[in-house]
Amino acid sequence: MQKAANIHWHTTAITKEDRQKLNDHKSVVIWFTGLSGSGKSTLANAVERRLYDLGKRSYVLDGDNIRHGLNRDLGFSPDDRKENIRRIGEVSKLFVDGGSIVLTAFISPYKEDRQVVRELLQPDEFLEVFVKCSINECENRDPKGLYKKARNGEIKEFTGISAPYEEPSNPDLVVETDKLTIEECVEKVIEKLKKYFII
Ligand code: ADX
Repeated sequence: MQKAANIHWHTTAITKEDRQKLNDHKSVVIWFTGLSGSGKSTLANAVERRLYDLGKRSYVLDGDNIRHGLNRDLGFSPDDRKENIRRIGEVSKLFVDGGSIVLTAFISPYKEDRQVVRELLQPDEFLEVFVKCSINECENRDPKGLYKKARNGEIKEFTGISAPYEEPSNPDLVVETDKLTIEECVEKVIEKLKKYFII
Protein backbone atom coordinates (compact mmCIF):
# COMPACT_ATOMS: atom_id res chain seq x y z
CA MET A 1 0.00 0.00 0.00
CA GLN A 2 1.21 3.47 -0.87
CA LYS A 3 1.31 5.70 2.19
CA ALA A 4 2.20 9.07 0.73
CA ALA A 5 -0.35 11.33 -0.89
CA ASN A 6 0.35 14.12 -3.39
CA ILE A 7 3.13 12.36 -5.21
CA HIS A 8 3.41 12.31 -8.96
CA TRP A 9 5.24 10.02 -11.35
CA HIS A 10 7.98 11.73 -13.38
CA THR A 11 8.88 10.25 -16.70
CA THR A 12 12.61 10.18 -17.35
CA ALA A 13 14.35 11.78 -20.33
CA ILE A 14 16.27 8.59 -21.02
CA THR A 15 14.19 5.43 -21.12
CA LYS A 16 14.84 1.77 -20.48
CA GLU A 17 14.70 1.18 -24.23
CA ASP A 18 17.37 3.89 -24.78
CA ARG A 19 19.65 2.15 -22.28
CA GLN A 20 19.04 -1.27 -23.81
CA LYS A 21 19.93 0.17 -27.20
CA LEU A 22 23.15 1.64 -25.84
CA ASN A 23 24.04 -1.69 -24.18
CA ASP A 24 22.98 -3.70 -27.22
CA HIS A 25 21.10 -6.23 -25.11
CA LYS A 26 17.81 -6.52 -23.25
CA SER A 27 17.49 -6.17 -19.49
CA VAL A 28 15.84 -8.88 -17.39
CA VAL A 29 15.75 -10.48 -13.99
CA ILE A 30 17.11 -14.00 -13.69
CA TRP A 31 15.48 -15.09 -10.47
CA PHE A 32 17.30 -18.03 -8.87
CA THR A 33 15.22 -19.75 -6.19
CA GLY A 34 16.11 -22.78 -4.10
CA LEU A 35 17.13 -24.08 -0.70
CA SER A 36 20.04 -22.66 1.29
CA GLY A 37 23.16 -24.40 -0.02
CA SER A 38 21.56 -25.33 -3.33
CA GLY A 39 24.06 -23.18 -5.24
CA LYS A 40 22.10 -20.03 -6.07
CA SER A 41 24.90 -17.57 -5.28
CA THR A 42 27.58 -19.73 -6.87
CA LEU A 43 25.53 -20.08 -10.02
CA ALA A 44 24.49 -16.41 -10.16
CA ASN A 45 28.14 -15.40 -9.85
CA ALA A 46 29.31 -17.92 -12.44
CA VAL A 47 26.64 -16.73 -14.91
CA GLU A 48 27.58 -13.13 -14.21
CA ARG A 49 31.24 -13.89 -14.90
CA ARG A 50 30.20 -15.32 -18.27
CA LEU A 51 27.99 -12.31 -19.06
CA TYR A 52 30.81 -9.95 -18.11
CA ASP A 53 33.18 -11.77 -20.45
CA LEU A 54 30.55 -11.42 -23.19
CA GLY A 55 30.44 -7.65 -22.54
CA LYS A 56 26.95 -7.59 -20.99
CA ARG A 57 25.89 -5.31 -18.14
CA SER A 58 24.76 -7.24 -15.10
CA TYR A 59 24.40 -7.16 -11.33
CA VAL A 60 24.04 -9.85 -8.67
CA LEU A 61 21.67 -9.28 -5.74
CA ASP A 62 22.38 -11.85 -3.05
CA GLY A 63 20.28 -12.68 0.03
CA ASP A 64 23.07 -12.74 2.57
CA ASN A 65 24.54 -9.45 1.25
CA ILE A 66 21.27 -7.54 1.01
CA ARG A 67 20.41 -8.60 4.55
CA HIS A 68 23.57 -6.77 5.71
CA GLY A 69 22.29 -3.45 4.39
CA LEU A 70 19.00 -2.61 2.72
CA ASN A 71 17.12 -5.41 4.50
CA ARG A 72 18.98 -5.54 7.79
CA ASP A 73 15.72 -4.82 9.61
CA LEU A 74 14.22 -8.12 8.40
CA GLY A 75 14.38 -11.63 9.85
CA PHE A 76 12.98 -14.93 8.62
CA SER A 77 9.31 -14.93 9.65
CA PRO A 78 6.92 -15.40 6.71
CA ASP A 79 6.07 -11.66 6.79
CA ASP A 80 9.73 -10.61 6.85
CA ARG A 81 10.58 -12.95 3.98
CA LYS A 82 7.65 -11.50 2.03
CA GLU A 83 8.94 -7.96 2.61
CA ASN A 84 12.49 -9.07 1.76
CA ILE A 85 11.34 -10.39 -1.60
CA ARG A 86 9.05 -7.44 -2.27
CA ARG A 87 11.90 -4.95 -1.78
CA ILE A 88 14.26 -7.03 -3.91
CA GLY A 89 11.59 -7.16 -6.59
CA GLU A 90 11.42 -3.37 -6.60
CA VAL A 91 15.21 -3.02 -6.63
CA SER A 92 15.40 -5.53 -9.48
CA LYS A 93 12.87 -3.50 -11.40
CA LEU A 94 15.04 -0.39 -11.03
CA PHE A 95 18.05 -2.29 -12.32
CA VAL A 96 16.03 -3.57 -15.29
CA ASP A 97 14.99 0.03 -15.96
CA GLY A 98 18.69 0.89 -15.76
CA GLY A 99 19.39 -1.62 -18.53
CA SER A 100 21.06 -4.42 -16.57
CA ILE A 101 20.67 -8.16 -16.45
CA VAL A 102 19.90 -8.75 -12.78
CA LEU A 103 20.74 -12.06 -11.16
CA THR A 104 19.05 -12.61 -7.82
CA ALA A 105 19.99 -15.29 -5.30
CA PHE A 106 17.29 -15.49 -2.63
CA ILE A 107 15.69 -18.61 -1.21
CA SER A 108 12.33 -16.91 -1.88
CA PRO A 109 10.45 -19.93 -0.49
CA TYR A 110 6.90 -18.73 -1.11
CA LYS A 111 5.27 -19.04 -4.54
CA GLU A 112 3.03 -16.08 -3.88
CA ASP A 113 6.00 -13.78 -3.13
CA ARG A 114 7.80 -14.82 -6.33
CA GLN A 115 4.58 -14.21 -8.26
CA VAL A 116 4.43 -10.68 -6.85
CA VAL A 117 7.87 -9.99 -8.36
CA ARG A 118 6.89 -11.54 -11.69
CA GLU A 119 3.90 -9.21 -11.84
CA LEU A 120 6.04 -6.13 -11.13
CA LEU A 121 7.87 -6.74 -14.40
CA GLN A 122 6.93 -7.16 -18.04
CA PRO A 123 6.17 -10.80 -19.00
CA ASP A 124 9.48 -11.14 -20.87
CA GLU A 125 11.56 -9.52 -18.12
CA PHE A 126 11.37 -12.25 -15.47
CA LEU A 127 13.01 -15.66 -15.77
CA GLU A 128 12.47 -18.00 -12.85
CA VAL A 129 15.27 -20.51 -12.44
CA PHE A 130 14.69 -23.31 -9.96
CA VAL A 131 18.04 -24.28 -8.48
CA LYS A 132 17.07 -27.83 -7.64
CA CYS A 133 19.06 -29.79 -5.10
CA SER A 134 17.87 -32.40 -2.64
CA ILE A 135 17.70 -31.33 0.99
CA ASN A 136 20.06 -34.21 1.80
CA GLU A 137 22.71 -32.86 -0.53
CA CYS A 138 22.22 -29.28 0.76
CA GLU A 139 22.60 -30.59 4.29
CA ASN A 140 25.71 -32.56 3.36
CA ARG A 141 27.25 -29.47 1.79
CA ASP A 142 26.19 -27.21 4.66
CA PRO A 143 28.71 -24.53 3.60
CA LYS A 144 27.78 -22.16 6.43
CA GLY A 145 27.08 -24.81 9.10
CA LEU A 146 23.48 -23.61 9.29
CA TYR A 147 21.74 -26.96 8.78
CA LYS A 148 23.63 -28.30 11.76
CA LYS A 149 22.48 -25.33 13.84
CA ALA A 150 18.92 -25.74 12.57
CA ARG A 151 18.92 -29.44 13.55
CA ASN A 152 20.21 -28.49 17.01
CA GLY A 153 17.40 -25.99 17.36
CA GLU A 154 19.87 -23.07 17.42
CA ILE A 155 18.17 -21.56 14.35
CA LYS A 156 14.38 -21.40 14.23
CA GLU A 157 12.29 -21.28 11.07
CA PHE A 158 15.07 -22.66 8.90
CA THR A 159 13.99 -23.34 5.33
CA GLY A 160 13.67 -27.04 4.56
CA ILE A 161 13.96 -28.04 8.22
CA SER A 162 11.48 -26.00 10.21
CA ALA A 163 10.10 -23.64 7.56
CA PRO A 164 8.61 -24.48 4.16
CA TYR A 165 10.07 -24.26 0.67
CA GLU A 166 7.46 -24.17 -2.08
CA GLU A 167 8.95 -25.50 -5.31
CA PRO A 168 8.10 -23.55 -8.46
CA SER A 169 5.41 -25.37 -10.44
CA ASN A 170 6.22 -23.78 -13.78
CA PRO A 171 9.75 -22.35 -13.74
CA ASP A 172 11.38 -21.06 -16.93
CA LEU A 173 14.34 -23.30 -16.21
CA VAL A 174 15.34 -26.03 -13.75
CA VAL A 175 19.01 -26.67 -13.02
CA GLU A 176 19.85 -29.67 -10.89
CA THR A 177 23.03 -28.77 -9.06
CA ASP A 178 23.28 -32.23 -7.48
CA LYS A 179 23.40 -33.82 -10.94
CA LEU A 180 25.22 -31.29 -13.15
CA THR A 181 28.46 -29.35 -12.80
CA ILE A 182 28.31 -25.60 -12.26
CA GLU A 183 29.64 -25.13 -15.81
CA GLU A 184 26.79 -27.24 -17.21
CA CYS A 185 24.25 -25.23 -15.22
CA VAL A 186 25.78 -21.95 -16.45
CA GLU A 187 25.51 -23.23 -20.02
CA LYS A 188 21.79 -23.92 -19.57
CA VAL A 189 21.15 -20.40 -18.32
CA ILE A 190 23.15 -18.82 -21.14
CA GLU A 191 21.34 -20.98 -23.73
CA LYS A 192 18.01 -19.76 -22.34
CA LEU A 193 19.11 -16.11 -22.58
CA LYS A 194 20.10 -16.65 -26.19
CA LYS A 195 16.88 -18.53 -26.99
CA TYR A 196 14.82 -15.63 -25.65
CA PHE A 197 16.98 -13.10 -27.55
CA ILE A 198 18.03 -11.39 -24.33
CA ILE A 199 21.69 -11.52 -25.28
S1 ADX B 1 14.47 -15.57 1.99
O1 ADX B 1 13.79 -16.78 2.49
O2 ADX B 1 13.98 -14.36 2.63
O3 ADX B 1 14.46 -15.50 0.52
P1 ADX B 1 17.31 -15.02 1.88
O4 ADX B 1 17.70 -15.64 0.59
O5 ADX B 1 17.14 -13.54 1.93
O6 ADX B 1 15.99 -15.78 2.45
O7 ADX B 1 18.38 -15.39 3.00
C1 ADX B 1 18.74 -16.74 3.17
C2 ADX B 1 20.11 -16.87 3.80
O8 ADX B 1 20.08 -16.43 5.14
C3 ADX B 1 20.52 -18.32 3.83
O9 ADX B 1 21.35 -18.66 2.74
C4 ADX B 1 21.28 -18.43 5.13
O10 ADX B 1 22.63 -18.13 4.91
C5 ADX B 1 20.72 -17.35 5.99
N1 ADX B 1 19.74 -17.76 7.02
C6 ADX B 1 19.82 -17.46 8.33
N2 ADX B 1 18.74 -17.90 8.98
C7 ADX B 1 17.93 -18.51 8.09
C8 ADX B 1 16.67 -19.19 8.18
N3 ADX B 1 16.00 -19.29 9.33
N4 ADX B 1 16.14 -19.74 7.05
C9 ADX B 1 16.80 -19.64 5.89
N5 ADX B 1 18.01 -19.02 5.74
C10 ADX B 1 18.57 -18.44 6.82
